Amino acid sequence: MVDLDDEKRRAASAAADLVRPGMRVGLGTGSTVAFLLEAIAARRVSATFVATSPGTQRAAQALGIDVDPFSDLARLDLAIDGADQVDPSGWLLKGGGGALTREKIVAASAERFVVIVDSSKMVASLTGPVPLELMAFGLHATLRRLGATVLRDAAPSPDGGVLADHFTRLDEPMVVSRRLADVAGVVAHGLFAPTMVTEVIVARADHVQHLSPQGEP
Ligand code: A5P
Repeated sequence: MVDLDDEKRRAASAAADLVRPGMRVGLGTGSTVAFLLEAIAARRVSATFVATSPGTQRAAQALGIDVDPFSDLARLDLAIDGADQVDPSGWLLKGGGGALTREKIVAASAERFVVIVDSSKMVASLTGPVPLELMAFGLHATLRRLGATVLRDAAPSPDGGVLADHFTRLDEPMVVSRRLADVAGVVAHGLFAPTMVTEVIVARADHVQHLSPQGEP
């Protein structure tokens, strides 16, 4: 039996080793990141941290990690986050936890974006639905233009956005990514391109793998 929590813990621990004193670090959201927070707290590295969700902020602070607002920093050295699915070329599907917009902003602001996953997240090809954050303004007109989209029974995002899931085939993630980004009213979608990803750390039963979607630097 695969122990996915053990895999998450080992991927998170490998990523925590990348945090160096003085760095500005973005912290993702989710159960894998929960292990990351524990590993960072145990290492007591003095760095500046920002969080991608109120949940991560609370969990980090409970472990003694100071979290700064992400309003004054122009860039981050490192961002570490989980993913729901990772395909062989490094496309990610994220947003199962609803934090996709802040996760995307933090990842895009970081010099290095490191993804931490257990082996179950590695897939041959991505499968929808694609998480979306939508503006509440004009919501039903946006839904009509999108088609095949179901609102989540969930609280709004911390930024007031409406969470939804868009059902579509994902044979060509770039095509879908561009199409969704072009729909007025879509704040963000859960497809993250390989060009954003510096490294994927995958923990498997007997080893930890480091994959570079963009090739070795
Ligand atoms: C949160 O919105 C998501 O993007 C998470 O990063 C993703 O769902 C991974 O979460 P787990 O680590 O809990 O699987």
